[in-house]
Amino acid sequence: GKYSWVDKDTCIACGACGATAPDVYDYDDEGLAEVIYDGDANRGIMAIPDDMYDDLQDACDGCPTDSIKIADEPFAQSE
Ligand code: F3S
Repeated sequence: GKYSWVDKDTCIACGACGATAPDVYDYDDEGLAEVIYDGDANRGIMAIPDDMYDDLQDACDGCPTDSIKIADEPFAQSE
């Protein structure tokens, strides 16, 4: 699986990621993107199937502010 989260400090709510990978990215009340896959709540700890990796990569490549983080291991966040 892959793991992803969005850095809301740099996201400018452009809306591209949710259009590219709607099963993974949605938006909060301010329009900032967050990972919603499998209840992840933007923690970057829920495994996203490898067959969705193309969508993840497209979303990552399409983000104008490089706010989408993707890794092979779960992210460990302080919050
Ligand atoms: Fe934000 Fe980038 Fe998505 S700016 S809305 S994370 S494409």
